Amino acid sequence: MKLSPRLKAAADEVRCGKKIADIGTDHAHLPIYLVENGICTSAIGSDLREGPIANAKINIANAGLSDRIQLRLASGLDKVSPDEADDIIIAGMGGILISELIEKADWLKDKEKHLVLQPQSHAEILRSYLIQNGYRIEKENVCEDAGRLYCVMSVYYDGEERTYPANYEYYGEIPACKSPLAKEYLIRLSDRYIRDAGNMRCADPKRAEELYSIADTLNRLTAK
Ligand SMILES: C[S@@+](CC[C@H](N)C(=O)[O-])C[C@H]1O[C@@H](n2cnc3c(N)ncnc32)[C@H](O)[C@@H]1O
Repeated sequence: MKLSPRLKAAADEVRCGKKIADIGTDHAHLPIYLVENGICTSAIGSDLREGPIANAKINIANAGLSDRIQLRLASGLDKVSPDEADDIIIAGMGGILISELIEKADWLKDKEKHLVLQPQSHAEILRSYLIQNGYRIEKENVCEDAGRLYCVMSVYYDGEERTYPANYEYYGEIPACKSPLAKEYLIRLSDRYIRDAGNMRCADPKRAEELYSIADTLNRLTAK
């Protein structure tokens, strides 16, 4: 199985030898890759819709892994129990939906569990949710796929309340990321906020000021 750069970046964060669950698995490319490459011995793929599950079933059978990858038709982690997964990947969904799925699975509040999260949008809402609920973003990576930049977060729960710098939710651990794409990610984000601020300068001057301030924070981080 050859993964897209985005899914490969998520796969690279999975711990070796752990039980894994891929939520919103769609085609099941990720669990197939992880089992084929010996990163885990077996895996669960879960998806909300029947179409992706049927598709995943075919792909898993074609890879000869039907005995090692189980599929579940369910929302989020509803049909995954705590003893079945140590590393949980949620990729290719919006940050708001990812937060909601985590919120519904209280058992993720366990220091031994590891979340690999790749939001397609609203990464700042996901980061806010995580830091307000005792999750720690251990690190983030940035990858490029078809000209778009994506972040991948490696997250653990420890229940501690921390004080974060202003606007942390907009950049998280990206400034500490070693990838040369990290700086480009922050520059693109800052450009977007400046554009958005310009568009709402008259309609919502207060929000426009906030966006300029976020863009300023991002610019200062890229200048370091
Ligand atoms: C864009 S695809 C991403 C597939 C793959 N994870 C990736 O990153 O390439 C999103 C998948 O999430 C599934 N999905 C959407 N909402 C879901 C939910 N609440 N629970 C589980 N799966 C969901 C969709 O059916 C779809 O297969």
